[in-house]
Amino acid sequence: MRISTTTGLLGLAVAVSQALVQAQDPPLQNPIQSAPFYLILKSRNSTLNNAYLSPCHEGAAEEALCPTKESLTDLPYSKFFYNTSAPESGGTGILTWNLPLGESYVSQPMLFQYNDASNVAVPIIFFTQDPKNVEFGSDGLMTIFSYRDDTKPLTLNSNYTAHLSRWYVCDTIPTWYLYQTLAWAMGKAKPQNPSCQKVEVYRKWA
Ligand SMILES: *[C@@H]1O[C@H](CO)[C@@H](O)[C@H](O)[C@H]1NC(C)=O
Ligand SMILES: *[C@@H]1O[C@H](CO)[C@@H](O)[C@H](O)[C@H]1NC(C)=O
Ligand SMILES: *[C@@H]1O[C@H](CO)[C@@H](O)[C@H](O)[C@H]1NC(C)=O
Repeated sequence: MRISTTTGLLGLAVAVSQALVQAQDPPLQNPIQSAPFYLILKSRNSTLNNAYLSPCHEGAAEEALCPTKESLTDLPYSKFFYNTSAPESGGTGILTWNLPLGESYVSQPMLFQYNDASNVAVPIIFFTQDPKNVEFGSDGLMTIFSYRDDTKPLTLNSNYTAHLSRWYVCDTIPTWYLYQTLAWAMGKAKPQNPSCQKVEVYRKWA
């Protein structure tokens, strides 16, 4: 499916008006926003190692996160923020990005786009009431907190906790563009998408 410019602009207008509605009703209570930072990849593949994640256009006000080796001076729109409801002592929060809008901007969260036919989820930046919770370790590693391990017999009141890093870079098509983007493997199996390469994602303060 292709989208015409008019439909695209209309979509943007709708998305932005939704954002303005949402601005009065944010998903987090009194979000505390971190200082800006970049997201940098670590990988055994030198092509991806030390690449930055940069928002890449997927549709009206919708971006995936694409690795780039461009220098930071050429990446003015690749700064992210971390919104939490409590000061950053543990707990999780959401990754946010400021969508430029004329002279101003709108804060958008990251969510996961799931595909029932795949174990690969694609992080995208878009308006949603259901953003993905992430966390950052003391070394800056971005992880997802898990309190359940269904690879073992389940018990109620288990004390299991894990800080998962199942990030990959894969060829994906979240909307209608084929890009190499950040991705997340659902579960502990390898991603079924053969293009996926393992990466770790670190926060680097801007
Ligand atoms: C390293 O990553 C690049 C970019 O995705 C890819 O073209 C290349 O095949 C990868 N190299 C190896 C050894 O996997
Ligand atoms: C993130 O926090 C800032 C500061 O409170 C807020 O203005 C912004 O709307 C929040 N972004 C999202 C996507 O909730
Ligand atoms: C979980 O931790 C609590 C408090 O430390 C302990 O009383 C309980 O036995 C633990 N439960 C399991 C299943 O290990």
